[in-house]
Amino acid sequence: MAIFLDTGKIDVIKKYHLMGIIRGVTTNPTIMVKDGITGGMEGVKKQSIEIAKLIHPYPLSVEVTNNDPKDMIRQGIEFSKWADNINVKITIHGPNGELDNLQVIHELEKKHNVRINATAMMSAQQCFLAAMAGATYVSIFGGRVNNMGYDSREEIARLRHLLDDFELPSKIIVGSTREVVNIIEWLEAGAHIVTVTPKFIDGMIVHPYSKETVQMFLKDGATFEKSK
Ligand code: E4P
Repeated sequence: MAIFLDTGKIDVIKKYHLMGIIRGVTTNPTIMVKDGITGGMEGVKKQSIEIAKLIHPYPLSVEVTNNDPKDMIRQGIEFSKWADNINVKITIHGPNGELDNLQVIHELEKKHNVRINATAMMSAQQCFLAAMAGATYVSIFGGRVNNMGYDSREEIARLRHLLDDFELPSKIIVGSTREVVNIIEWLEAGAHIVTVTPKFIDGMIVHPYSKETVQMFLKDGATFEKSK
């Protein structure tokens, strides 16, 4: 079980990487835009190479930027050459439900030896098929599943049982964190990995009662410092 960071910000990644608590990073085009990455595809390349180097050998997911099957294959091969710990995100289907992407995932994994993170999935059945196609990671968006009125934990548990029963080696990444509690509850439900928005990591660490306890220790500790 592991925690990944869902961000493209170098300083933020460095901060949590130095704590030794993250085992990978995920990005997507929306995160890259929000995080202010500029300079077109060269900018994406530069940022991705820097992140990959920083967290090596832990994996970094970088998503393709269009939905044409030939371009997805071309970008997938190209991105994977930027660093040996980069895996490539491909959505489960196109913007209007076009069905080319599973073949793209299969070809990139099996023919071009590119590790794939199949993404933008909301159900166990989607993830199961991406796993059958050979995706190394299958990403289900837990927060969005909950927002549709379903219980993401049930979907994660079903998926984990399917992967285990069929002896499929794909690892489940649950993303789209909305609350601190998501992280532990998704890991408990069967996720191999939860990819977390950085602010929720702080929420996991800091507890008001721990603060009060540390303040008490420091106050009493200071009495010894004074009487030195
Ligand atoms: C996962 O890999 C995605 O990058 C991400 O978690 C999506 O989250 P959102 O629903 O907050 O966009």
